[in-house]
Amino acid sequence: AHDMGKDLEKVLLTQEQIEDRLTEMAAQVDADYAGKDLLLVGVLRGAVMVMADLSRRLHLPVQMDWMAVSSYGSGTKSSGVVRILKDLDTDLHGRDVLIVEDIIDSGLTLSWLLSNLRSRGPASVEIAALLRKPEAAKVPVDVRYVGFDIPTEFVVGYGLDYAERYRNLPFVGTLAPHVYGG
Ligand code: PRP
Ligand code: MN
Ligand code: MG
Repeated sequence: AHDMGKDLEKVLLTQEQIEDRLTEMAAQVDADYAGKDLLLVGVLRGAVMVMADLSRRLHLPVQMDWMAVSSYGSGTKSSGVVRILKDLDTDLHGRDVLIVEDIIDSGLTLSWLLSNLRSRGPASVEIAALLRKPEAAKVPVDVRYVGFDIPTEFVVGYGLDYAERYRNLPFVGTLAPHVYGG
């Protein structure tokens, strides 16, 4: 049941594709924030891999902080009502903030997070997300850096989970139907 290889249907993005794209995104971030004191905000738990691999590719000296948020309502779908499970330890006043996320699905999590962080008096707040599902958007989210636009399929790996598993896959893939069927 927990053989990750057998649970997969297909690989959507290889480790190499992800890493190459993150290298390009890091170069953009380096250029855009040159001379600034950038704070990266990772959204637990899905953003852990992106944060690690994107930040390592930056030449800027950045700070990192983390938030954990959870949607109210049903288990797997965002409701748009978000509560903070772990807040930042950093004062955002006057800071240049870049939110680091694994995926924008409905957009509800990031839409809420953007307005929450913008209310704290930062100099700027932007978003870097590895993945985006354009056809699943329920609210528009203005994303400065996007790795890949992907189809509306349930994806796992590289931080993304299904029932808290598969986050440690080094690539992004889809699950075989038997995994959902139990
Ligand atoms: C997932 C993902 C994003 C969010 C995107 O997080 O990591 O944070 O959902 O969905 P949305 O655009 O529809 O709001 P999740 O709430 O599953 O928590 P996790 O990061 O701990 O897996
Ligand atoms: Mn998440
Ligand atoms: Mg999740």
